[in-house]
Amino acid sequence: MSGKFTFTMIKPDAVNAGNAGAIIKMIQEAGFRIVAMKKTKLTQERAGEFYAVHSERPFYNDLCAYMSSGAIIPMILEKDNAVEDFRTLIGATDPTKAAVGTIRNLFAKSIEANAIHGSDSDENAQIEGNFFFAGTERF
Ligand code: GTP
Ligand code: MG
Repeated sequence: MSGKFTFTMIKPDAVNAGNAGAIIKMIQEAGFRIVAMKKTKLTQERAGEFYAVHSERPFYNDLCAYMSSGAIIPMILEKDNAVEDFRTLIGATDPTKAAVGTIRNLFAKSIEANAIHGSDSDENAQIEGNFFFAGTERF
């Protein structure tokens, strides 16, 4: 049975391009409730921790440099079947393969600068939410 929460962050390319508002509007119109949200910036080291699962991949260093290059907007979201439904809303990792009308189809610039993150499991949603919001009150 899938859970009610997922974690997302709007990535530096989308924040820089001024697309955060449009993306948040799409998220809310798709039925997700924002439980927690802030604007912040990762250091290269914190980006490395967040994406530690990819540390053996060839793009890891570039990914960490990119993810620490500008402001991000992390959020915890609530909806039935949150993880799967959110992955559907954002579309495939590579924007050239993302379905028409998905967030990455509309806003991503490349496979790396792909506008938004979405947790891939209930367990990771919890870990990633705590990474940014541990000790923060949630509503
Ligand atoms: P996230 O929601 O950000 O975790 O993306 P994802 O689950 O769709 O993809 P994955 O976890 O496999 O990769 C994490 C991130 O690494 C992607 O969102 C991209 O920003 C980046 N990435 C993935 N594959 C590539 C690649 O082949 N080249 C480069 N440069 N970056 C990649
Ligand atoms: Mg992933």
